[in-house]
Amino acid sequence: MEPRNQTNASEFILLGLSEKPEQGTLLFSLFLCMYLVTVVGNVLIILAVSIDSHLHTPMYIFLANLSLVDFCLATGTIPKMLVSLQTRSKAISYPCCLTQMYFFHFFGIVDSVLIAVMAYDRFVAICHPLHYTTIMSPRLCGLLVGAPWVFSCFISLTHILLMARLAFCGSLKVPHYFCDLTPILRLSCTDTSVNRIFILTVAGMVIVTPFICILASYALILVAIMKIPSAGGRKKAFSTCSSHLSVVALFYGTTIGVYLCPSSVHTAVKEKASAVMYTAVTPMLNPFIYSLRNRDLKGTLRKLVNRKITSSS
Ligand SMILES: *[C@@H]1O[C@H](CO)[C@@H](O)[C@H](O)[C@H]1NC(C)=O
Repeated sequence: MEPRNQTNASEFILLGLSEKPEQGTLLFSLFLCMYLVTVVGNVLIILAVSIDSHLHTPMYIFLANLSLVDFCLATGTIPKMLVSLQTRSKAISYPCCLTQMYFFHFFGIVDSVLIAVMAYDRFVAICHPLHYTTIMSPRLCGLLVGAPWVFSCFISLTHILLMARLAFCGSLKVPHYFCDLTPILRLSCTDTSVNRIFILTVAGMVIVTPFICILASYALILVAIMKIPSAGGRKKAFSTCSSHLSVVALFYGTTIGVYLCPSSVHTAVKEKASAVMYTAVTPMLNPFIYSLRNRDLKGTLRKLVNRKITSSS
């Protein structure tokens, strides 16, 4: 390796999801559709919650924030990938790569914590319905929403600062479709142990802890549901919980796999498949999973769409 190459990387080559050019069109159409569904679903929820004053309750404020975060998470990764697929230009400059990494981790962490906050909110609403308004005071609600944003800002910044001190040499080809920490770390020829320790610590804090809180909340919710006398009510509550839990499992399962398991176990294919789950699939599913069974939100969305149709005709 020439020492000259060891200084700074000016750009990386993102190899994308597939290196087979003939799969480009298929991937492009698939991800374009998924991205459009994500944008429409999440924007509708944000609009509905901000327009309808009946929906200014903690649950919907959390939901609107989650939609905003999901929208940003997908927007930070998918459009760049679509453009690369279409133009076949795979290069990304070093500053752009770090910026993408920053925003991806920033929104990813907020997403993870907000899903846990929403599970806690459901737990309070179902298990302590009489104290719900006193527990979920505007102050606590603001804290539960605001704290993840502030916290995430510092953590992502630390990730980037730790990354920026690394030198790269040899091939700068990244077998991934966006700039993420672990694939880029593998290309560095500096000692990356500090980065790896920080990644594990953060993953423990922002993925494992929320995941455990979510499981605990839903376990307590299930216990409460068992006590519902009517079979119909029990069934409805069960199906709501199970749909939440399946998306939760998809999101946390794949992120735990990527950030907490030793990198040697991973093939690039597994890593990319997991990344598709948390950058494209769960942001697309979240609005449907959290709102489809919800009568109030559906009513507002119907009004919103009808108004748009009547005003445009
Ligand atoms: C997110 O939560 C904050 C604080 O509760 C709220 O003011 C804001 O409107 C929410 N964001 C969205 C997009 O609804």
